[in-house]
Amino acid sequence: MDSYHITGGKRLAGEHRITGAKNAVLPILAGAVIPGGVSKIRNCPRLSDVDAMVRILEGIGCRIRREDDSIEVDAGGVDSCRIPEHLMKEMRSSVFLMGPLLARCGEVVLSHPGGCEIGRRPIDIHISALRKLGVEIRETDGGLACRAANLKGTEIRLEFPSVGATENLMMAAVAARGETRILNPAREPEIRDLQDYLVSCGASVEGAGGPVIRVRGAGPLKGAEHRVMPDRIEAGTLLAAAAITGGQVLLTGAMPEDMEAVLEKFREAGCLLRTEGDKIELSSPPRLRAVDSVVTQPYPGFPTDMQSQFLALMTVARGECRIRETIFENRFKPAKELLRMGADIRIEGPVAVVRGVEALRGARVAAGDLRGGAALTVAGLAAPGETFVENVCHIDRGYDKLEVTLRKLGAEIRRIEE
Ligand code: UD1
Repeated sequence: MDSYHITGGKRLAGEHRITGAKNAVLPILAGAVIPGGVSKIRNCPRLSDVDAMVRILEGIGCRIRREDDSIEVDAGGVDSCRIPEHLMKEMRSSVFLMGPLLARCGEVVLSHPGGCEIGRRPIDIHISALRKLGVEIRETDGGLACRAANLKGTEIRLEFPSVGATENLMMAAVAARGETRILNPAREPEIRDLQDYLVSCGASVEGAGGPVIRVRGAGPLKGAEHRVMPDRIEAGTLLAAAAITGGQVLLTGAMPEDMEAVLEKFREAGCLLRTEGDKIELSSPPRLRAVDSVVTQPYPGFPTDMQSQFLALMTVARGECRIRETIFENRFKPAKELLRMGADIRIEGPVAVVRGVEALRGARVAAGDLRGGAALTVAGLAAPGETFVENVCHIDRGYDKLEVTLRKLGAEIRRIEE
């Protein structure tokens, strides 16, 4: 497996254009199965998770054409509602195909999903919501067999605003008779992007981002062209990379209005931020200040997907910071690796207490999940000496050649292929 070799201590400076959002492109590609025609999805990032989704789509009979950053999905030939088990295991997002395949074929057979090991990640909320919509779900040995004989719109309150369950339900509901009202939905901006795509296909969906999403079943959908929104987590990660090196960065093609909770924490840490239109400019002080506390929350709160990068940032800030993870129970994995780099972190249940040290030191560390891997890379940029980050495959799931972007900004980082 590939690793990164980083020589830390270089100040980052420069400009970068943000790529399309991983968490938007995956459900949208899954949603492209619903219409019988061709959808063209533009601004797709080059990620291994996107490649995995493309393989799944091909596996169920879609024809795919990729050109530059566009992916054309011709779902006309979808001939299977069975998701191959080995592909399902590769990526948790394959669970997003439940809703679209139910809408398209009235049936779906799938095994339990894989993905990052950041906790139990059950799918009970998906299942109970789909059942309320009229889906019959049977647990089989290795997975689930679902049948949608008679989907009927109704009011469904999610017990927790799960991102994936909200998206699955929206996509299944486009094929239900009457109106579905999703109460307590996730409000993440990527859900708005999925809504925009479904509306372009002729669906009647409204309310994404608010307290109720309304979906009215509206007959067969047509394929559509859609441009994927920018990745707010890529943007946040690059801000962290610049900030930890005392650097300065200008991000373009971003959506700062979707990142308020994260930008606020950078300000609290002593960074100067300027936002205008699709631009975010960050200048950081020579040494960051520890922010009092960070608590991960569903949107619009601080995103769990930025928690690890912030943990890395706080290891060298002046003072003490308490980071509480409330979404995934197993997301402090990078802490152990950061200790090897000289960090001072104490884990107390769901809280990481980080006391900033003067400097980290280079070490050999291993990524255990996607954002944890990004966090170790960020830490390596600030650590004098050499850092090796192993298992870069986790990082490739969600960043479009992170090392190339960082090098362009002045980092000394290269990929060692193995
Ligand atoms: C999505 C994102 C992921 C992000 C997460 C939270 C994508 C492709 N992935 O993941 O990057 O970290 O949102 O913002 O968009 N839960 C249940 N039962 C369920 C579903 C979820 O208990 O049926 C729990 C999960 O275990 C977790 C929490 O709810 O503790 C949040 O999960 P969810 O919002 O569903 O995250 P994902 O859609 O998997």
